[in-house]
Amino acid sequence: MSIDFHPTAPRPVEETEPLRDSRETNPMFNDQKMKLGLFGTNCSYGLVMSHAPSTYEVTWAHTKEIAQRADALGFEALVPIARWKGFGGTTNFNGNCFETYTWAAGLAEATENIAIFATSHLPTVHPIVAAKMATTIDRISGGRFGLNLVMGWVTPELAMFGEQRQQEDRYAFGQEWIDYVLQLWGEKGSFEHHGTYFDGVNLESYPKPVQAPRPLLINAGNSKSGIDFSARNVDINFASLDTLENMATYTKSLRTKARDEYDRDISTMTYGLVVVRDTEKEAKQAFQSVIDHGDWDAAGNVMKIAGMESQSFNEQIKQFQERFIAGWAGYPVVGTPEQVVEELGRLNDAGMDGMIMGLVDYNEEMKYFGEKVMPLMVQAGLRHE
Ligand SMILES: Cc1cc2nc3c(=O)[nH]c(=O)nc-3n(C[C@H](O)[C@H](O)[C@H](O)COP(=O)(O)O)c2cc1C
Repeated sequence: MSIDFHPTAPRPVEETEPLRDSRETNPMFNDQKMKLGLFGTNCSYGLVMSHAPSTYEVTWAHTKEIAQRADALGFEALVPIARWKGFGGTTNFNGNCFETYTWAAGLAEATENIAIFATSHLPTVHPIVAAKMATTIDRISGGRFGLNLVMGWVTPELAMFGEQRQQEDRYAFGQEWIDYVLQLWGEKGSFEHHGTYFDGVNLESYPKPVQAPRPLLINAGNSKSGIDFSARNVDINFASLDTLENMATYTKSLRTKARDEYDRDISTMTYGLVVVRDTEKEAKQAFQSVIDHGDWDAAGNVMKIAGMESQSFNEQIKQFQERFIAGWAGYPVVGTPEQVVEELGRLNDAGMDGMIMGLVDYNEEMKYFGEKVMPLMVQAGLRHE
């Protein structure tokens, strides 16, 4: 027996059309020269694999307080980490964490202006479900939603869902996944999707998101296929790079690729641990304290997964492990408020349009950042009131 579920009357425009241009609603498109965000405030220990003293904890009240503080300061972004399992060690790093779509929905309601992201491991969620969840969060937030597209990277956690695909195939799957989601966000009436990984007929998805032409998309792939995926699909790529020179070269080539091959614009941003104190000595001591209290076992596990276990232990590896412990191998920014602003300026000159930060104690250090660093960023022309 077949039943015709097609609507017999035209759908109202509030269901069928995106409501507003994303450039008007999403702060990631605002005109602040150096955008600011927080990274990892949904997962235990955030970006530090360390027992360094901190009031940070993964409770709803605490994550909400941090989000509201960032929002009140005028930060642009809250980007969560997608994690299903900890990295072991004495901290079980990141193991206690909130799922990111539902976290984003809660914070969308609790904030006013900041962009709220979900970080999605694409193989773990069907495009029809993801498109609908994203639309719902976009509606709750009035067009402030962003989606971080992760193909799957950490094999032991993705193994919880079944066998992980090989790298190339992960991005091929990701391409079809996002194409399918774009159909669901954009197409009116009933449509079909036929691909390698998904097959669907009599499809529909109402309402459409707030943001036109689609909600903001980001990706942090840095491999050849990851970079190509970013150039083709997303608004912002997050670079994981160690020097300003590498960032400048990376940004230039990614922008050229997006323009030449896909006729698109893309920007780049980065991430890392920020430690700012009244004096350089105090800042360096606080950074060193993270390393001194480091969870070397968890860091070792992360590095093994990142494919570095084949190298023998030497000074270089130790330094790298320190970078993992203090900021998930991001770009560390450590110093006085003046020094931190100078470094953010150098990152900006190297092509980074923003930084999503880890802080050892997000809630407490945000207060200091707002008071001491933000005014200097305005003076330096990196931001305006
Ligand atoms: C800023 C940033 C955020 C990321 N967030 C996550 C995450 O939450 N969960 C995850 O499994 N991988 C995350 N990744 C991993 C990337 O999506 C990507 O898989 C990784 O950088 C390796 O690049 P590749 O996939 O091109 O090899 C993140 C990477 C960066 C630099």
